[in-house]
Amino acid sequence: NAVEPFDYVIFGATGDLTMRKLLPAFYYRMLAGQVPDSARIIGTARSPLSRTEYQGRAREALDKFVAKADLDEARVEAFLNMLYYVSLNGADPEGKWADLKASLAGGEGKARVFYFSTAPNLYRAVAENLHAQELITPKTRVVLEKPIGIDQESAREINDGVGRYFQEGQIFRIDHYLGKETVQDIIALRFANPVLNAVWSAEYIDYVQITAAETVGVEGRAGYYDGSGALRDMIQNHLLQVLSVVAMEKPASLDADAVRDAKVKVLQALKPLTAEMVKDHAVRAQYVAGESGGKEVPGYLTELGHESGTETFAAVRAEIATPRWAGVPFYIRSAKRLTRKVSEVVIAFKKTDHGLFPEGDRPQVLVIRIQPDEGVSLSIEAKDPSRDDMALREATLDVSFGPTFKVRYPDAYERLLLDAVRGYPVLFIRRDEVEAAWSWVEPVLESWKANKAPVETYKAGSWGPEAAKALLARDGHAWHEDMA
Ligand code: BG6
Repeated sequence: NAVEPFDYVIFGATGDLTMRKLLPAFYYRMLAGQVPDSARIIGTARSPLSRTEYQGRAREALDKFVAKADLDEARVEAFLNMLYYVSLNGADPEGKWADLKASLAGGEGKARVFYFSTAPNLYRAVAENLHAQELITPKTRVVLEKPIGIDQESAREINDGVGRYFQEGQIFRIDHYLGKETVQDIIALRFANPVLNAVWSAEYIDYVQITAAETVGVEGRAGYYDGSGALRDMIQNHLLQVLSVVAMEKPASLDADAVRDAKVKVLQALKPLTAEMVKDHAVRAQYVAGESGGKEVPGYLTELGHESGTETFAAVRAEIATPRWAGVPFYIRSAKRLTRKVSEVVIAFKKTDHGLFPEGDRPQVLVIRIQPDEGVSLSIEAKDPSRDDMALREATLDVSFGPTFKVRYPDAYERLLLDAVRGYPVLFIRRDEVEAAWSWVEPVLESWKANKAPVETYKAGSWGPEAAKALLARDGHAWHEDMA
């Protein structure tokens, strides 16, 4: 099941993403037999490295980010032999393009992918240079790493800039959450299980929570992160994509445009938040010193070394103005330095007014665990066997997919890297989706920028600020970890 022969050119090839995610992902796909022997992976960056030096860095990356059991010297050698390096500033028309051309020689008929993992404000210039150098063949695709802009306008500029040289069908905007197995699973769960499909609406669902919690701080990325914040870094892209899959109508088929048509309708139906509404519908906060992984850790501002209003925690209450979701709040949150690393979707069903049992008035809750321990659980009410009356007791139907299917859960990038070679865009974001998502988050960003809402604080290692609890308490709801 190897994909067709390809040349893959990475701009930003010495960066953290390439080392931590892209190279290990290619290695794993090689182990899986999906990378043809003739494939070439050409790293480009400004650093003046030799090919051997780059291969050395790649080897270190594999040592660090590939499980020991999967490191086989012969396979690692074979992988390193596919790697090339060209020292080139992709944004510079006078750069060493001849070197890149030479590396691509003979590859005119192969699939060709340019992966942009540089600062997004350079994407247009890189695309323009590729065009000027006549490196864009009919079988060329371009992968754009996030963030696509920092707001609606800059996203348009990037999309227009790259769109001058590549057609929309050649542009693959990556959102690695879509490459996660369990995010794709939401489609299977919803549409292949009548038991779930039948209750997937406001008639039965009380509210939905979408969480991406991390335990790490901003690590070595404070420079990028401080210009971004949790809303831009996680919610505008990953979590709104998850929301669109949870909430979309049944797509006409599983074809890329059918699925993306269904998703974009959700994003376009998000009830607009006005700047005035923001303080009641969104919470932002920064972590202060606390504990993480049993160690004392400093607060965000200490790590940063200067004042900042950037949020490391963001929570937003969204509503979707479609008949299916009328009146159902979707609470979305993401943060650094929380208690646990977990990404999940929680669906709380409306309580049934059974009027039969002496007690047991809990909502049924379905949890889709995106990561870790990929799986699904559903709480059910059962008869309490320790009592003679009909008292209820809660139990859980719980399946962990890894042990059930006995498979390794691949990193999201593994799937996505090769989908770009296949020219298969269903798990990539279409232009209208990016712009719809920015248009919804923009009033929040603007209101925060104008300081119309306080920057709350939370202790590193906690579940976030009190204000986030209050956001749900106002509706009579609680975050998953606080549910009774
Ligand atoms: C990235 C963000 O897109 O996703 C990071 O820029 C974040 O800040 C990461 O840590 C989280 O991804 P995952 O797959 O670990 O949930």
